Amino acid sequence: TNYDIIILNGIVVTDTQVGDLDVAIKNEKIVKVVPRGKLGDVTAAKTIDADGGYVMPGGVDAHVHLDEPPLFGKGSTADNYETGSRSAICGGTTTMVTFAPQKKSEDTLLDTLRATHAKAKDICYTDYSFHLLVGNPSGNALSEFKTLREEGISSLKIYMTYEALQLHDGQILDVLLEARRQKITTMVHAENGQVIDWMTAQLEKRKLFAPKYHGTSHPPMAEIEATYRAISLSEFIDTPILIVHVSTPAAAAHIKQAQDRGLPIYAETCPQYLFLTKKDLDQPGFEGAKCVCSPPPRESEADCDAIWDGLANGTFTILSSDHCPFRYDDNANGKKTCINDEFPVGHFKYIPNGCPGIETRLSLTLGADRLDLKKFVEVTSSNPAKLYGLWPRKGGIIEGESDADINIWYPPGKMQEYELKNEMLHHNVDYTPFEGRVVKQWPRYTLLRGQVVWDKENGGLLGRKGYGQFVKRGTSALKGPRTEGEWELPL
Ligand code: URP
Ligand code: ZN
Ligand code: ZN
Ligand code: ZN
Repeated sequence: TNYDIIILNGIVVTDTQVGDLDVAIKNEKIVKVVPRGKLGDVTAAKTIDADGGYVMPGGVDAHVHLDEPPLFGKGSTADNYETGSRSAICGGTTTMVTFAPQKKSEDTLLDTLRATHAKAKDICYTDYSFHLLVGNPSGNALSEFKTLREEGISSLKIYMTYEALQLHDGQILDVLLEARRQKITTMVHAENGQVIDWMTAQLEKRKLFAPKYHGTSHPPMAEIEATYRAISLSEFIDTPILIVHVSTPAAAAHIKQAQDRGLPIYAETCPQYLFLTKKDLDQPGFEGAKCVCSPPPRESEADCDAIWDGLANGTFTILSSDHCPFRYDDNANGKKTCINDEFPVGHFKYIPNGCPGIETRLSLTLGADRLDLKKFVEVTSSNPAKLYGLWPRKGGIIEGESDADINIWYPPGKMQEYELKNEMLHHNVDYTPFEGRVVKQWPRYTLLRGQVVWDKENGGLLGRKGYGQFVKRGTSALKGPRTEGEWELPL
């Protein structure tokens, strides 16, 4: 037989198994996965010796903001589809699901989808899809959910905060009901916007403006309350939701209780909540701005530990980056827009919310050595593929089914450790909140549909801009509503 690529001497890790297996690739697909040495007498255009390293499905990052207008404070995102997907591929993420943001002032989702397709077309290094971000669930927008499904979009995101995006509970029920009809998964940003606005006003009255007060203005209570409310609304309509970027142990506990009751409640966390705390926000001058995201990094290491525990025990379905890139020196003349005579250390409420992290998500998490290997693959690749309708094409290493999207890692202990520096990264952001962290693992090779797109020691980025394709998504492979048929008014 004749293959395009064979990968020998690796330890294949998927969400369900770890084994000494060889892998053969042809026509962009995984076509054979066999015990080591058992491929037999074959020829291949290229042979990769994994040298005892882990062979894992490529990363699927299901929470990425690229080329978005100002929505979360001042400033548009610093990465477009080219630079964002470039950064992704250099960190082992082969598929990303980004947001197509509908503004409150717009009545249609289909125009948003078209416009976002135009932004991504022919410039991506990774495969990609979009979540529709619903800013205005008008009758017209709701009637378009069906067409979205036909266009391969099976998920939406809604917000319970941010003036430009916040929906009230009635609007959320409208979205959930139509999402249920169309078998769409709804992602919810669960923070109570009114609480945040009230806290912001309290801080302003006291003239407390430094970046660290971003944390104060987003108390855990605002996340806990909104999480419980989102669960309640989802249970009422009986339709699956995913709570995005969960940061608070008590919110995770509400989610776990709901899951234990059999509800289709899914949850996401992000490296920010595993590695950063209040200390990172509380830096001299404006420095803390680098860690301003919502929800904010929480009180202490104990909070981070609880989030790690939630990954290990299954409370968190997925681990995404929430890559939301803004520049620190965001002004053309090397200054910071947020700083002026009135606010010499800036004003927290004008700092755009979000951190970059699409390139560091996999390496920092794997390198921390705190997750079982199968669990790592599950939350960073297989589950996002399952939840968002990409499975088994993405997120697995399944003969005849999966695209040949693969990361080959260094054999344990064989990579020279180093300190992370922003200049090593491939995004268009002038900082990383993870500067100086020790990097213990990084993909040695990354393959996307059978092409080597990253070779750390021989050329680095080898992928071609535009090789990445839009992927149509189907229905979630994870548990849906508990009841079938139309939702009925409880009388
Ligand atoms: O701070 C964050 N997470 N910014 C990105 C926008 C969002 O809510 O996901
Ligand atoms: Zn959000
Ligand atoms: Zn947010
Ligand atoms: Zn986000």
